[in-house]
Amino acid sequence: MGRLAGKVAIITGAAKGLGEADARMFVREGARVILTDVDSANGERVAAELGEMAEYRHLDVRHDAEWRALVDDVVARHGKLDILVNNAGVVELGDIETQTEKDYRFIMAVSADGTWFGCQHAVRVMKENNGGAGGGSIINMASIASVQGESAVAAYCAAKGAVEGLTRAVAVHCARQGYNIRCNSIHPAGILTPMVIEVGRQAALMRGAEEALNGGPITKLGEPDDIAYTVVFLASDESKFINGAAIRVDDAKSVIAGNA
Ligand SMILES: NC(=O)c1ccc[n+]([C@@H]2O[C@H](COP(=O)([O-])OP(=O)(O)OC[C@H]3O[C@@H](n4cnc5c(N)ncnc54)[C@H](O)[C@@H]3O)[C@@H](O)[C@H]2O)c1
Repeated sequence: MGRLAGKVAIITGAAKGLGEADARMFVREGARVILTDVDSANGERVAAELGEMAEYRHLDVRHDAEWRALVDDVVARHGKLDILVNNAGVVELGDIETQTEKDYRFIMAVSADGTWFGCQHAVRVMKENNGGAGGGSIINMASIASVQGESAVAAYCAAKGAVEGLTRAVAVHCARQGYNIRCNSIHPAGILTPMVIEVGRQAALMRGAEEALNGGPITKLGEPDDIAYTVVFLASDESKFINGAAIRVDDAKSVIAGNA
């Protein structure tokens, strides 16, 4: 039996990159998966490839009303929500002197606001699971940008710091309320996805890819499944005593001396 058998999951930003890898692994592990994104062409394609245990729904995570409609629809049709992966995120290059307010607001809206709305709506319905006893797992995709100073992506650092702090607040609230809802953050670095390819391309144009990502040498890139294995673990009951944790999956990039 799959490690996520019988569970219902929503994954944001699932049309490509890490979210797509999560969705593929979730279905292999027996979950029913609602892939969401703003890139509907890719989202529909991936969901179709995954078969009857997967479906695609448009969700722009910046909008509270879209969240409410989606979560209510999932509970109405599938009876519950067990897992939320707040994965959607965007990055634009810019340090504290050069990043525009427009980019700052955009990055914060997707990562910080989007994760905020997702947590609010997930807690609202997960606390009703199991006949009111509650139950669920929320996984927030942060970054090592929240734990080290990545000067070339200042707004991204701010957004991921918000995600990390919110994760702890949600975890403690749910533990105190006895909701049986866990909330943890994952902090990846250097995983080969469309985002990293695009940042690398922009950086190469500006100053050189190595410098722009985190000011130090990129030793090697990870694969999306390196993150998906951790997401599946946190989504499964195997991690039932892990709550409020910030888990780095970065091949030591955030702890190598001189790498920040
Ligand atoms: N790849 C890495 O090395 C890395 C490192 C640290 C953190 N992360 C984080 O992991 C997450 C996934 O990153 P990725 O590398 O797969 O990026 P990606 O750009 O390859 O994929 C992100 C997905 O999010 C979607 N998205 C963008 N704005 C959205 C919105 N408003 N609403 C819904 N969906 C939206 C995009 O359409 C895309 O499908 C992000 O939060 C990112 O910050 C990635």
